[in-house]
Amino acid sequence: MGLGFCWATFAFQKHENMTNKTFTMIKPDAFAAGNTGSILKHIEAAGFKIVAMKLTKLSAEKAGEFYAVHKERPFYGELVEFMSSGPIVAAILEKENAVAAFRTLIGATNPANADEGTIRKLYAKSVGENAIHGSDSDENAAIEGSFFFSAFEKI
Ligand code: CMP
Repeated sequence: MGLGFCWATFAFQKHENMTNKTFTMIKPDAFAAGNTGSILKHIEAAGFKIVAMKLTKLSAEKAGEFYAVHKERPFYGELVEFMSSGPIVAAILEKENAVAAFRTLIGATNPANADEGTIRKLYAKSVGENAIHGSDSDENAAIEGSFFFSAFEKI
């Protein structure tokens, strides 16, 4: 295997992994309200392909680990409590420019500021209970996807 081939393989994987995928969680409020199906329909209608998905419930410890970046924020305790309060649906999604496209689809963190037609405008209650999570960078999409899914669970 020549160096050229190795580089081409690396470049392709980098493109595949870093720019075409994002990670999402349908949060406990949206799951409990029975909005999972509607939200998934919205996501697929926007052209995202589901490449991994699972229904699970986070322990407080796992929710704290997932949101460790917010540890110093005043809302961290509330966030951990809420995210471990009920089932969530975690998924890896694929689309061109996935991270930015998905953040546009879900709308602003605070549903009061979200554009009409976005998932948070349609389904979120408040900044804390905001229906859905979307990764904020390609790097975090990879980290968050690997938090929930092993290599053989990703199609
Ligand atoms: P999410 O996109 O999952 O990333 C971090 C989460 O922290 C965010 O959505 C909100 O649910 C939550 N969050 C952000 N700001 C606040 C706040 N001021 N009060 C409570 N929760 C918040």
